[in-house]
Amino acid sequence: MAQKYYITTPIYYPSGNWHIGHCYTTVICDALARFHKLKGEEVFFLTGTDEHGQKVEKEAKSRGITPRAFIDPLVERLQDMWRLLDIGYDRFIRTTDADHVACVQRIYQKLYESGDIYKSEYSGYYCTPCEAFWTEAQLAGGKCPDCGREVTLQKEESYFFRLSKYAPRILKLYEDNPGFLSPKSRVNEMVNNFLKAGLTDLSVSRTTVKWGIPLPFDEKHTAYVWIDALSNYISALGYLSEDDSLYRKFWPADLHLVGKEIVRFHAIIWPAILMALGEPVPHEIYGHGWLLIGGEKLSKSKENARPELTDPYELVKRYGADAVRYYLLREIPFGSDGEYTTERFLKRINADLANDLGNLVSRTQAMIVQNFDGKVPPHAAPEGPDGELISMCEGLFKRVDADMGALNAPDALADIFAVVSRANKYIDETAPWILAKDAAKRERLGTVLYTLAETVRVCAVLLKPFLTQATERILRSFGAENDGLESLTFGRLREGSQIEKLPPVFPRMDIPKELAEVEKLLSAKKEENKAEPHGAAPAEAKPPVGFEDFTKLEFKVGEVIACEKVKKSEKLLHETVKIGGEVRSVVSGIAKFYSPEEMVGKKVVVVTNLKPVKLCGVLSEGMILCAEDGEGRISLISPEKFVESGATVR
Ligand code: MSP
Repeated sequence: MAQKYYITTPIYYPSGNWHIGHCYTTVICDALARFHKLKGEEVFFLTGTDEHGQKVEKEAKSRGITPRAFIDPLVERLQDMWRLLDIGYDRFIRTTDADHVACVQRIYQKLYESGDIYKSEYSGYYCTPCEAFWTEAQLAGGKCPDCGREVTLQKEESYFFRLSKYAPRILKLYEDNPGFLSPKSRVNEMVNNFLKAGLTDLSVSRTTVKWGIPLPFDEKHTAYVWIDALSNYISALGYLSEDDSLYRKFWPADLHLVGKEIVRFHAIIWPAILMALGEPVPHEIYGHGWLLIGGEKLSKSKENARPELTDPYELVKRYGADAVRYYLLREIPFGSDGEYTTERFLKRINADLANDLGNLVSRTQAMIVQNFDGKVPPHAAPEGPDGELISMCEGLFKRVDADMGALNAPDALADIFAVVSRANKYIDETAPWILAKDAAKRERLGTVLYTLAETVRVCAVLLKPFLTQATERILRSFGAENDGLESLTFGRLREGSQIEKLPPVFPRMDIPKELAEVEKLLSAKKEENKAEPHGAAPAEAKPPVGFEDFTKLEFKVGEVIACEKVKKSEKLLHETVKIGGEVRSVVSGIAKFYSPEEMVGKKVVVVTNLKPVKLCGVLSEGMILCAEDGEGRISLISPEKFVESGATVR
């Protein structure tokens, strides 16, 4: 019977601010899932979204829309990102899916009936962005110890899970199963920071959060988001439902791959819940490292401070899914953090994909086209350096399998690329262009080119889990059959079969030129963001503010006395505005709607107490108010009757 492999990513918060760091967990899982499929195993790969909780509730409220209306477009955008990156999951679960909701309710009911969930009162410090509760002792300088942000003291009636009871069993789980939690450093972290001191019972319901799953035995309460979220790993398989065949087939999971900041939830709370349910725990939890920028975890706010291209949609558009996948899988030492820069990204792609792999493919195909009319050449017995290359190919699966067994994609790729490099060296050693000049050496030439074609083919088969698109093209161009592990046997290409010469699979990039272009792209985006609201105002209603907040802003009538276009920008105008006795420099994003000439002489309304900023290098000491319609058309707001410049607007 085929072996099964069940692998999961964490389910993602619907933040919408996806960056390349977010793609890391999912790309690794996808490569692992594809590798196990290649081995002929029955694989289930799960990912999805974590949609309930206070954060979403607040965000939706601030926009005046329902949580569902807020989340749905974000979920679609996330699914788009996975499509772009060729992520081949077997299920995308949403915690708002009806089967998940029903499963979570059954889990709570079961734990309530067994006495593992009981009612009490909660008092603690809550970090909304992390959706985590902390005791006073756990706070770092009064702030959330995970993210450093503000926490709020909350007191409420709550149901508790008897986590304390499971601490000794979790410690024993770590001792008896050294493979349960990796890398080793995470075990020490869990034991020293949490388990040694003993665990306190966990508050697992809220009365203050409405956007959550109601508890079946007390509908005033909603499920704590982490219990809701963690349950996805079994609800997706039909646990406690009428049809639990997937659960029986795939559980326990072979691997929960998660970022290191959420290991605590997966390696302590999750096994305790499963133990309480009487279910087996997953085989392995792996806490991977982070992509860093300037030594800190990559986050949307930091992205703006540096000229790094971190937007996955943009990266895939410019360089393709394979390049992004390759970078993530090859560059960051598995288990550790890795610094991300656009330059490193480009260098890695150029060196490995364009130079090593791209060259090998195009040199091999060009020589077959030139010398054998594009047909796989006849070949004789191997000689000289052929043997070494062939045996490298023949042993390659075993090495890659061992690497992937240790979840080590960077080493797996290093092993495959060692063969690619060896093959490039083999071309230099055998010098086929010299063999081609001598008719007596035609058989040898055929053997060399055949050996190369087979090497490319074997490498492409093994690269399929990593580079999903280029490998398809390469294999198709060699007319190679695609039958899983069988196709790894050296010597399967049939003599005389036609090959197709591909254009460069990974074109070489001029890195300084590319970096300059990226910088230009990023600064244009930054300027456009700054120039809001003109041109891109959100249509949603904002929550009410008190009059005291309104009076913090100062509005005055101004007269535009000079105006010009801002150089290097298509959107910005630079106005000189007279406001009473004062003259100010103001930049506004209205160049698509007003010419500099027509602006001069206009009376406008200016917000005069905004902090000055520089836009495209030009000082802006205020903001001119405009109306914008649903189509993004702009109209200046002007006083209806004559008023002197400097008049107050309120
Ligand atoms: N919703 C929770 C998980 C619940 S699972 C039951 C969550 N979501 S998340 O959207 O914040 O994170 C999703 C994944 O992205 C996590 O594995 C996280 O570690 C990963 N990353 C987010 N930023 C990252 C980096 N800068 N680098 C690497 N991975 C990072 O946590």
